[in-house]
Amino acid sequence: MRNLDLIYNRKSIRQFKNDAVPKEDIIELIKAGTSAPSPKHQQNWHFVILQNKDIINEMADIVTKSHENIGKLAKNEKDFKKHMSVINYYTCFKDAPVVILVYSCEYKMIEYKILKENNAPKEILDVLVSPQSAAQGIGAAVQNILLAATEMGYGTCYMTGPTHAKKEIENLIGFEKEGYELMSMISLGVPEENTPPKPPRKPLEDVLTFIE
Ligand SMILES: Cc1cc2nc3c(=O)[nH]c(=O)nc-3n(C[C@H](O)[C@H](O)[C@H](O)COP(=O)(O)O)c2cc1C
Repeated sequence: MRNLDLIYNRKSIRQFKNDAVPKEDIIELIKAGTSAPSPKHQQNWHFVILQNKDIINEMADIVTKSHENIGKLAKNEKDFKKHMSVINYYTCFKDAPVVILVYSCEYKMIEYKILKENNAPKEILDVLVSPQSAAQGIGAAVQNILLAATEMGYGTCYMTGPTHAKKEIENLIGFEKEGYELMSMISLGVPEENTPPKPPRKPLEDVLTFIE
């Protein structure tokens, strides 16, 4: 019998209780993440776990500062304010007891290398990399983690917004792995009571086409 409740019950959680998440649960979630498909099975991911509240809070300050700095490119106060209006969506990880940082390395495509060495035209090379396979592999891994967390009673939020501060975040946490860069983060914890409902989806007919 099909049971897709897990998928339909998952929603983004941005408010958490203070309860700690046991290390064995975090390990189980990462194991679920690594069970995802990846391009040519290159498993082009690395996960960094943050649980230290001081580091998590400092990371939120760093993201806010970086967001403000980028916002200064806006030509007037009104646009700056609009730019800043999303900041809570980029720092809401600060209320989570755990933040999972998701790193990725380049997807090594053999045919790209061969064609490039043979001076293939740029348009062809661009088409080959346009699926952004490394990012898609990360997305698959993250979704596995989100679903596994839902099953285990945890709340999560998939976040890419804070990554504009990736350099500063790397300096803060002191993590470096040759060829890897921060792609996204997942806030994780026991959800607060009465969190906002999952937003409605576009009607299927708007996003689905059958070709017969
Ligand atoms: C690639 C990606 C990036 C996202 N980045 C953020 C983010 O930076 N901050 C945030 O609060 N939510 C972020 N979200 C969560 C979306 O806002 C959320 O999934 C969407 O509003 C639908 O709500 P639901 O997850 O409750 O179904 C992101 C989701 C995805 C898939």
